[in-house]
Parts: sequence; C-alpha cells; structure tokens
Amino acid sequence: MSEQILKMTRITKTYFMGEEEQVVLNNINLAIYKGDFVAILGPSGSGKSTLMNIIGCLDSSTSGEYILSNQKVDELEESELASIRNKEVGFVFQQFQLLPRLTAIQNVELPLVYACLSEKERKQRAREMLIRVGLGEKLQNRPTQLSGGQQQRVAIARAMVTEPTILLADEPTGALDQKTGHQIIELFHELHEEGKTIVMITHDIEIAKHASRIVNILDGELREEHVHV
Ligand SMILES: Nc1ncnc2c1ncn2[C@@H]1O[C@H](COP(=O)(O)OP(=O)(O)O)[C@@H](O)[C@H]1O
Ligand SMILES: [Mg+2]
Repeated sequence: MSEQILKMTRITKTYFMGEEEQVVLNNINLAIYKGDFVAILGPSGSGKSTLMNIIGCLDSSTSGEYILSNQKVDELEESELASIRNKEVGFVFQQFQLLPRLTAIQNVELPLVYACLSEKERKQRAREMLIRVGLGEKLQNRPTQLSGGQQQRVAIARAMVTEPTILLADEPTGALDQKTGHQIIELFHELHEEGKTIVMITHDIEIAKHASRIVNILDGELREEHVHV
C-alpha cells in the first residue's frame, strides 16, 4: 500500500451571496497516494478550481477535514498554511503566471529564495530543472521570448524546483494548442514515471484519459471514480 499524501473527509465549501447560500463543494471525500497521477474532470462551474485551491492550501473549506502530508490543514494558522503550501505543493496554472520581467532561470529560481540556499545553489538547481523540461537553451529568455508551450515548461520547472510532495495543475493545457498540450501531458507522464505525485484539473476528457486515475466532479460532488492502470 502506497503512502497517503492527502485525505479529504466530508469537505464542504459554501459561499454566501447576501442571503443566498451556494454550496460549491458538497461532502467531498478524496484520498491521494504517493505516485498517483490523478485527473479531476468536470465541466465549467463544477467546482474544480475551488477544490484545487483547497488541495493547495490557497483557500480553506467551510467544513470537513483535510490532511496533507500528515498535517491537519483545517487547524493551521495563515502563516503555517503559507509554509505547508511552499513546502508541499507545486502549482501549475492555465495562464502560466510567470513574472514577465524575469528570465526563465530567474522565474524558476524564485521559489528557492525562501529556502536556505546560496545563490549559486539556487542557480544550479533552477538550471537543472530547466534542462530537465527541455529548455536548457532558453535560460536567459524572458516569457515574451518563449512560445506558450515553452512558458508552461518554465512554470512546471518552477513548480518542481522545490521538490514538492504534490504537483497541482489547473487546466495546464487550457491555453495551448492540441499538439503543444499533448507535449505538456507527455512531460507529466515522464515526471509521474519518475515517481512524482500529480493532480491535474481539466474539463477535457481526452486530457484526463492520460492520467492513471480519473475523478469526476459535477455540481460540487465527486460522482464516480474509475481506476484504469
Ligand atoms: N469567491 C467566490 N464567491 C462566490 N462564488 C464563487 C467564488 N468562487 C467560485 N464561485 C462559484 O463556485 C462555482 C464553482 O466555481 P469553480 O470552482 O471556479 O469551477 P470550475 O473551476 O470547475 O469552473 C461557480 O458557480 C462559481 O460561480
Ligand atoms: Mg476552473
């Protein structure tokens, strides 16, 4: 049995709009194990980003229990949340979210500024990660000097450079053409084969099929789960 990385028990998220109550996540139970490559699949508005934000400790639930790397996230204070987030989670977003004035290597180095590493070590690790994602020739390029697919590779290198417990990607191919999107999925495959734990959020079943496990979300509920290994 593989090590459990995260466990959600009866997680609910409710927004109040004046008098109106909107239940965005309803009684979510989810367990993810080390080395999983999970796709969370659902249509627009189903609650995927809300769920991702809670998994990534960017937001907290209204009720329920969430354990990430043996820590009870619900009981943590804001500063502790920031620290678990930096340590355990690597984020990849649809729109890459690179800093435009920084070069590729500076973008990848940034999360290491908080780790106690010398500048030389930071540069070395950032360079290794960029080589790993196939961008060894583009270290000094700024985001505008890179294609969409290359920018997403920089974002993946930035997410991986701190060696997080879990790589969390929200619609990582959503801003890319089909071919480039598949190349990004191929990179996730390789990282998965190296033992990384990946959670990928998508509305696209063709993208979800590349994961080793699909969890469906509809109207804030996890409806069914196929495992096809
Ligand atoms: N901050 C918020 N305040 C109120 N409602 C929100 C907020 N964030 C998301 N929602 C609502 O929650 C639902 C799910 O949103 P979201 O998680 O972004 O879905 P998805 O990522 O699957 O498209 C939507 O109906 C959305 O309008
Ligand atoms: Mg979304």
